[in-house]
Formats: sequence, C-alpha cells, structure tokens
Amino acid sequence: MPLITSKSLFEQAYKNDYAIGAFNVNNMEIIQGIVDAAKEERSPLILQVSAGARKYANPIYLRKLVEAAVEDSSLPIVLHLDHGESFDICKQCVDDGFTSVMIDASHHPFEENIKITKQVVDYAHAHGVVVEAELGRLAGIEDAVNVSAADAAFTDPEQAQEFVEKTGVDSLAVAIGTSHGAYKFKEEPRLDFERLKNIAAKIPGTPLVLHGASTVLPEFVELCNKNGGKIPGAQGVPEKMIREASAHGVCKVNIDTDLRLAMTAAIRREFAEDPTNFDPRKYLGPGRDAIKKMVQHKIKNVLGSSGLL
Ligand code: G3H
Ligand code: 13P
Ligand code: ZN
Repeated sequence: MPLITSKSLFEQAYKNDYAIGAFNVNNMEIIQGIVDAAKEERSPLILQVSAGARKYANPIYLRKLVEAAVEDSSLPIVLHLDHGESFDICKQCVDDGFTSVMIDASHHPFEENIKITKQVVDYAHAHGVVVEAELGRLAGIEDAVNVSAADAAFTDPEQAQEFVEKTGVDSLAVAIGTSHGAYKFKEEPRLDFERLKNIAAKIPGTPLVLHGASTVLPEFVELCNKNGGKIPGAQGVPEKMIREASAHGVCKVNIDTDLRLAMTAAIRREFAEDPTNFDPRKYLGPGRDAIKKMVQHKIKNVLGSSGLL
C-alpha cells in the first residue's frame, strides 16, 4: 500500500470519537518502533517530520526510511510535515511526496495566517495533498493567569469558522491549554474543553488537531532520573483528557515528548545496568523496544485506533 492522506482516516475517527496518533520521527529506530506497534495493533498511522528532524537526519534519509516502513509493513501510513513554517518548506515536502503538510503561520496576524495558509492549501490540493493549519498559539496554562492574554493565545471559535471558510484547510490545530515539551503545567493539568466544544460546534466536520499532547508518564521520568537524568517537575496531559478531546472533534493527537522519554529511559537503564555496553545495537535496540511499547499503549488505551485494519 502506498502512502495515504489522512482524509478518510479523519472522517472515520471524527464519526466514531477516536483519534489517530501522529508520532514524530527522527531516525530509523524511532520509525521501526512506531511502525511495529501500529502493525501489532492493526492501526493506521501518521508519521510526522519536523524541521528539526529534517535538519538532523537529512530529509532524503527520513523519506526513504518511511518508504521502507510502508513496503515492509503494508500499513496505511500518512507522511506529514510537522510545523511547516513557510510556503516554501510546505511546497518542498509536497514535491518530495509527503501526503500531508502543516503550515504553521499561527504567529502571524490573523489575516496573514489566512493568506499564507490559503497559498499552501491551493498548492497542496492541486497535488492531492492535505493541509493542517494552526490558529491560536500553544501556551502553558500559567499564561492563563491573565485571562485576556490567555484568550489571545487560545483559539477563538468565531475566528476558527472564518479561518476554515476562507482557507479551505483540511484540519485545524487548536490551542486549548496544551504546550510542547515535558513541562506543560505548573499546577493541576487543565484544558479548556468548553472552548474545544465551541470550536467544534462552529466548524462541524472539520477534524481538529491536538499538539503538545504527550502525557509524560511519571514512571518514565523516574526511570530517567534514577539513572542519572535530571528532569524535575515534568508534567503532561492526563490520558483521560486525550480521550475526552477525541470525543469532541480531535482526530489527530501529536506525540513526540513521550517517545523521547521512553527511548531515553530505556537507554539510560541499559547504560546503568551495564557500563561496559558500547554497542549501539545493544542500547538503541532497547530504545526501539521502548518506543514500540509506548506507541502500543497509546493506540490501544488512549487513542482508540486499534483493530481498524
Ligand atoms: O512540535 C514539536 C515537535 O516536538 C518537534 O520537535 O522541532 O525538536 O523536532 P523538534
Ligand atoms: P509533545 O511535546 O507533547 O509530544 O507534542 C508534540 C507535538 O505537538 C508535535 O507537533
Ligand atoms: Zn506541535
């Protein structure tokens, strides 16, 4: 099966209140761990590549690795550009065979965001590629201390409607209180579900995307810290909130930090258990196994996309 777009995946997910995992990939072991998990769970999959990943791995290596994954697994896989920051990088990825791109012009003023997004949508659609855009700015809940500042950063439902109508975008990333990385909340995790429901009501049928959706499970932080890591105060989005979001139009859930933590915890454990280990296969292999376990857990217990194939 060749790479697919997310169109029909999101249609089904939207109707049936589950979400598809979009996992960030940076190297072979990460790709293999994710794909093995999806294969065992019989789940479709989005593999996403950030600008940082392209810089780290060289775009052609990642593309060829994903092609190998498609050939080896026969899974329906979407190859997605994560946080494309300009028309040019989106165009490059469309030309390179990506089936989905994100244009992230959310830091621009509203009208400018519409203009750039529309330009990407026109180009991508002409080439059979789908587009995700972002409206609002991801922020930690600590920003909510100042309500008007929080409102400025969170996605506005009225604007979401105008944005989708004017751009024709296929899916929309929303800001409701999540943030990237391992330090999402200083206190109790809190997401603005009322806002999410209002957005979904304004743009019925448009799949929503949750960035910054890692859960940062304490056991992985503890395993890192037990073996020489220093990751104090890490806190993510509780799993039940991810499930709740997928019942309100969220069809794509972005996960990177949880993969980084799982892999790093396993590698730290290997080094702590055997300080003589200097064979990359003997620490990257366990790192890959940890990614697989994490992704299987997400698909089965959090996202609900098991057994679709
Ligand atoms: O949205 C951010 C992703 O976690 C990618 O992170 O830019 O360090 O590759 P990165
Ligand atoms: P996390 O940092 O929560 O894993 O989010 C990743 C993400 O949103 C990638 O676009
Ligand atoms: Zn993101």
